[in-house]
Amino acid sequence: MPFTKNILSIGAGYVGGPTMAVMADNCRQCAVNVVDIDADRIAAWNSGEPPFYEPGLKEVLQRALNRNLTFSTDVAAGIRDADIIFVSINTPTKTFGDGAGMAADLQYWEATARQIREHAGGDKIVVEKSTLPVRTAASMAGILNPKGGQIRFEIVSNPEFLAEGTAIRDLQRPDRVLIGGHQTGSGRNAVQEIVDIYANWVDPERILTTNVWSSELTKLAANAFLAQRISSINSIANICEATEADIDEVAKGIGMDSRIGPDYLRCSVGFGGSCFEKDILNMVYMCRYYGLDDVADFWHKVVTINSYQKDRFVRRMITAMFSSVVNKRIAVLGFAFKADTGDTRASPAIDVCRQLLEERAVVVVTDPQALPGARADLASFDGCVEYEEDPYTAAAGSHALAILTDWPEYRDLDYKRIYEAMEKPAFVFDGRNLLDHRTLHALGFNVYGIGKATLIH
Ligand code: UDX
Ligand code: UDX
Repeated sequence: MPFTKNILSIGAGYVGGPTMAVMADNCRQCAVNVVDIDADRIAAWNSGEPPFYEPGLKEVLQRALNRNLTFSTDVAAGIRDADIIFVSINTPTKTFGDGAGMAADLQYWEATARQIREHAGGDKIVVEKSTLPVRTAASMAGILNPKGGQIRFEIVSNPEFLAEGTAIRDLQRPDRVLIGGHQTGSGRNAVQEIVDIYANWVDPERILTTNVWSSELTKLAANAFLAQRISSINSIANICEATEADIDEVAKGIGMDSRIGPDYLRCSVGFGGSCFEKDILNMVYMCRYYGLDDVADFWHKVVTINSYQKDRFVRRMITAMFSSVVNKRIAVLGFAFKADTGDTRASPAIDVCRQLLEERAVVVVTDPQALPGARADLASFDGCVEYEEDPYTAAAGSHALAILTDWPEYRDLDYKRIYEAMEKPAFVFDGRNLLDHRTLHALGFNVYGIGKATLIH
């Protein structure tokens, strides 16, 4: 039976790959093609082994691969054959010129829009899947629909809300699917086409349609709200450390208020990941552009507190270890920005390790998935960092353990064995409040959690 629609994703990364795999899995009547300029990534997808670790993704991929899901580096052919094009390429923070370190770098986005116009050959719907500054759809329209252009492109915003580690569940059963379009006849028709795709597996009540600017802003604002909760609870954790209040008790007490709710109140060494910091800085830049300086300052503080949290973690380590870590071996347990992923983008572990290395500590990194990422992130310290698959080997002979990722398996390690193999006094700095601090203290460790009384001997 011929396919009813040809769907394309440009970008086969953490967003494009899983999103299209789940779409193909649920819409067998559609042909779903994913293109990317990265030939290695495409080869990995085509082998049936995803290019990164994401629970449940492999099974979905293998069900749909070469049935109605294909991967290719032929971007031009992909564009030509598609009815609907999801653009899922990355939009990193600008590193040069005006807005460096704040604004989104839209050069790849613009190049992609020009490529779409060049190869389209007929009318298409172009969907913004990546997170973008508000009003990017207007710039897109300027490139795609120039005066006198023969082909019409309708631009729709459909931001992705998946979180890594739970991407498949988030895509299969989303809290909501947001689809923003222009309030014109053709705009509404385009939105309806995207609604019809999601309606194959998502409850219609969870599909929300808005104008295109609301949709673009909602994605930035949702990430800013989530990150804000983490900076809020981290700031309260600092008050706990000064007052002997306990952050778990306080967070529970706050979260049981139904108006607040319990999620995103886990204090930590700081949030990481490719989105939170990038998206907030992007929003801050946008606020300043519109002259909303007080609004910009408000959101910028979320990032400032996060940097403070990482710096403070390292300062506490140094102070606790008699004000010097020179030549001290520190075992870093976890380098990924969160559990269940090998992704290290903007991981707090990067800043913590860098600072420890600048203080001339000997850093040994262990992580079940993220050692390749850690090697790349710490490449400038080549020769000063050790990478160990086995946490027991990493810990042996060390002065301190620093827990930087909430991998559940770190709870189940034999800490008696670890303690016996460490230098004394042995320290644990638990940046995720993952471990049982009282038990560790009873074993002989000096224990420092976040927002908790220190347990020292
Ligand atoms: C990330 C963020 O997670 C997301 O929120 C943001 O909106 C975009 O950046 P992600 O899928 O995680 O998305 O990025 P990444 O894994 O880097 O994938 C992007 C892919 O686009 C890469 O594989 C890259 O090779 C590809 N790409 C980029 C192109 O195919 N063409 C380009 O011109 C640029
Ligand atoms: C986030 C958003 O959740 C998702 O909706 C959006 O599409 C992309 O950005 P992601 O970055 O993959 O997803 O992971 P998330 O689970 O939100 O965690 C981000 C960071 O916050 C991690 O470093 C995590 O460890 C940290 N975090 C999360 C906390 O420190 N405390 C919490 O309570 C929750």
